[in-house]
Amino acid sequence: MAYHLPSLNPPDPLMRMLRDEVETTKVSRNAQARALEDLFKLFTQQRSTIARNDYLSVPRYRNAYLRYHFPLNFARAAYALQKVAEVYPRITELDQVIDLGAGPGSAALATLFSLPSKKRNYVLYDRSRAALGVARRLVDGCRADAGVKRDLGSFQTRRLQLPTIPTSSEGTLLWIAMVYNELGSNRRDGPKAEAFAERLTRSTRPGSVVLLVEPALRGPTIELMRLHDALIARPGWRVLAPCTHEAPCPLLEIRSKPWCHFHFRWRPPEFTRHAAESLGLKSPQASLAFLALERTGAQSLSDDAKAKRSPRRARVISDKMTSSTGKPMFYICAEGARNQLKSPPQPCWRGDLLEQAQGGTYRRLAQDGNRPRERRKPTTKGQNQGDQSQGDAS
Ligand SMILES: C[S@@+](CC[C@H](N)C(=O)[O-])C[C@H]1O[C@@H](n2cnc3c(N)ncnc32)[C@H](O)[C@@H]1O
Repeated sequence: MAYHLPSLNPPDPLMRMLRDEVETTKVSRNAQARALEDLFKLFTQQRSTIARNDYLSVPRYRNAYLRYHFPLNFARAAYALQKVAEVYPRITELDQVIDLGAGPGSAALATLFSLPSKKRNYVLYDRSRAALGVARRLVDGCRADAGVKRDLGSFQTRRLQLPTIPTSSEGTLLWIAMVYNELGSNRRDGPKAEAFAERLTRSTRPGSVVLLVEPALRGPTIELMRLHDALIARPGWRVLAPCTHEAPCPLLEIRSKPWCHFHFRWRPPEFTRHAAESLGLKSPQASLAFLALERTGAQSLSDDAKAKRSPRRARVISDKMTSSTGKPMFYICAEGARNQLKSPPQPCWRGDLLEQAQGGTYRRLAQDGNRPRERRKPTTKGQNQGDQSQGDAS
C-alpha cells in the first residue's frame, strides 16, 4: 500500500535553517513567549480579526510562528499527504506544486521533504512579502546544505491577495493550508463556500489535486465541510480523503454538529518544545482537519452513484467510546452516513481507513507510525457524541 513517510517533522537541515532564521531576530525570551501567546489568541479567541491582520509581516510574530507553527504545520501537511497517498499513490507523481497562503512555506516544504524525491516546480503565493522571503531563504539554505540529497526543483514566490486563485496547469498539487479559515466571506460573491468552490473549479485543471488543511477547531472545520459539499455538487470533482464516498457530508446534518477532524502523535523538535514550554503547552498530539479532492473534469456522478462509489470503505471519525453495553465503539463515516462501529478492528484509531470484509466486519487498510496514544479512560457513551475535543488551537 503506497509508501511510508518516515517522519512528520522537518528534517535536520531544514531545522538548522529555521533556527538560523529565528536567531536573526533578537527577541528576549519573555518577548518570544508573549508573541507566541498573542498568536494563539489571534488564532482562537480573536479569529474575527484575523483576515485584516498581516501578522507574518511583524518580525516578533513571524519569529514565534517559525518556532512553533512552522514545524507543527509542516507535520500537519505531511500527515495529510500520507493520508492521501494511502488512497491515491499518484500524488507522488504530480510535478507542479502551488502553495496558496504559503506563509514561510510549511506545506510546500513538507511536500519537498516527505514525498519521494523528484524534480517539481514550486510556486508559493502569499500576501506577506516577509513570509515569502523566509520561504526563499529556507530553500536556498537547503540547496547549499550537503546533507539535503533531494532534487529541490524550481522554486518561485509571488505576492497574491486571496481569494484570487491563479490558474494552474494539469497535474498540479494545490495546497491551501491553514488559510481558508483566514479568508473572510466576500458578500458580493455570495456564501463563502459557494464562491470559493466556484473560483477553485474555474482555476484548476483535470488531473490536479487540491489539498486543504485547517485547524481542528469546530468553526473552521464546519466551513471546510461546507466547502466539501459545495465542490462535490459541481461536476468534475472526486473526493480522495478523508471521505470514502462522494455524498454530502453527513455530519452537517447532525444537530450537535460534530466536526470531522483527526489527531496524530507529534514529537515537536527541541526548539519548538522550548517555545511551547514557555506557554505551558505539552503538545502530545497534533490535530487537523483536511480535505483532498481530485479535479477530474469528468461529468458529475448522480447522487446515488456518488454515495455508492466505495461502498465497502469507511473512515474512523471519532476516538474510542463506550457503547451502552459497555463495549468499545467508534463512529465511522461510510457511504455518506455516520454510523456506530460496535466491533472495531484491533487496534483502531481516529483517521483509520477501514474496509468491510464479507460478513460485515471491518479491517484496517492503512497503517502509519504516528498514532495518538490511546486514552487511559475511554469516554462514556454520549459524552463524545459531538466530539468535543478541541484539537490544538492553532
Ligand atoms: C496560518 S498561515 C499558514 C501558512 C502556511 N500555509 C502554513 O501552513 O504554515 C496563513 C497564511 O495565509 C496568508 N494569508 C491570509 N490571508 C491572505 C490573503 N487574503 N491573501 C493572501 N495571503 C493571505 C497569511 O499571510 C499567512 O501566510
